[in-house]
Amino acid sequence: MCIRWLIEKFNCEVITVTVDVGQPENFSEIEERAYRIGSVRHYTINAKVEFVERFIRPAIMANAMYEGKYPLGTALARPLIAEKVVEVARREGADAIAHGCTSKGNDQIRFESTIRALAPDIEIIAPVRMWGMSRAEEIEYARRHGIPVPEIHKRFSIDANLWSRSIEGPELDDPMNPVPEDALEWVKPPERAPDRPVYIELEFRNGVPSRLNGEARPLIEIVQSLNAIAGECGVGLIDHIENRAVGFKSREVYEAPAAVTITEAHRDLEKITYTPHEWRFKQLVDMLWSDLVYSGLWIEPLREEIQLFIEEVNRWVSGVVKLKLYKGSLTVVGREGEFASYDKSLADYFKGWFPSDAEARGFIAAYTQHSLTAFWRRRRIR
Ligand code: ARG
Repeated sequence: MCIRWLIEKFNCEVITVTVDVGQPENFSEIEERAYRIGSVRHYTINAKVEFVERFIRPAIMANAMYEGKYPLGTALARPLIAEKVVEVARREGADAIAHGCTSKGNDQIRFESTIRALAPDIEIIAPVRMWGMSRAEEIEYARRHGIPVPEIHKRFSIDANLWSRSIEGPELDDPMNPVPEDALEWVKPPERAPDRPVYIELEFRNGVPSRLNGEARPLIEIVQSLNAIAGECGVGLIDHIENRAVGFKSREVYEAPAAVTITEAHRDLEKITYTPHEWRFKQLVDMLWSDLVYSGLWIEPLREEIQLFIEEVNRWVSGVVKLKLYKGSLTVVGREGEFASYDKSLADYFKGWFPSDAEARGFIAAYTQHSLTAFWRRRRIR
């Protein structure tokens, strides 16, 4: 629709770009549609492996979950899509780049921050922010111009890639409304999931999955397999109220079976590996990383700097995690880390720890003294 509008408004040539980040789309159909509407040249760019290696990989190491819930699929793909579009714009000598974001979302920030970083000389046009049509008027505009709009897109705004499928729309705006089942494509409703639990074994090398059920596979294949396996078990549906970067809360629904499974396993392996100090610091850094990525600041130097720390500690995150998936639940049932700081002989509950009663007393006295001093002093004035 933007194509038609840009031609009418600016009387210009429009070149179109689709970046494949693993969304289940028919790309030749998209290309055909672009030409039919008026594109003079269309690019389909396969960026799946790059998406996995440059964006999903660090997200796994950072346990990326915005506000504890959203694995950031859309947020991670935007900077890469923008980068690819800038490359095409340069090759074609374009003087402007247009994107289809509305003024309500975070995506406009994500696209524009990257475009501005890489190509400050190129103008940015956001037709949807400019044309002032309501959703109904947009659908009518499309009809008048013979532009087909798929049924699902009339009800929901959907964005999918290898890491997650985001679902937004008026039917979900009331936070009390349950998610309509026909909006879901990746996660089976638990009540219809298989009646027997599925066990999987995920092996990590330096913080990233390397083997699934004993078989060495590229990360992209592990992600694809887990989307299918965990989704089939009803795992990976997320329904939460999200604080958008643009100033209001929204109800967001995601399907992310692989992201949820991998992150749960990764967190568990980190915990058996890190010292308590590393582990606590990592919680803070992870949250900061997710916040920056969510709010469209992939280009922020701090994102890269804390990512260096995240990669550094993940050097030690190697080992195996066993998970049980059953009718919507996901449970870690075993873990073993090559560099685990867990020591079974120390943990043995039936063996003593302090060599003598006096040593235990001494430790407890010193260890609690800070708190006791304050406790008794403040007690006097309460
Ligand atoms: N709220 C999510 C985010 O900001 C999902 C955005 C999905 N985009 C969409 N066009 N439906 O990352």
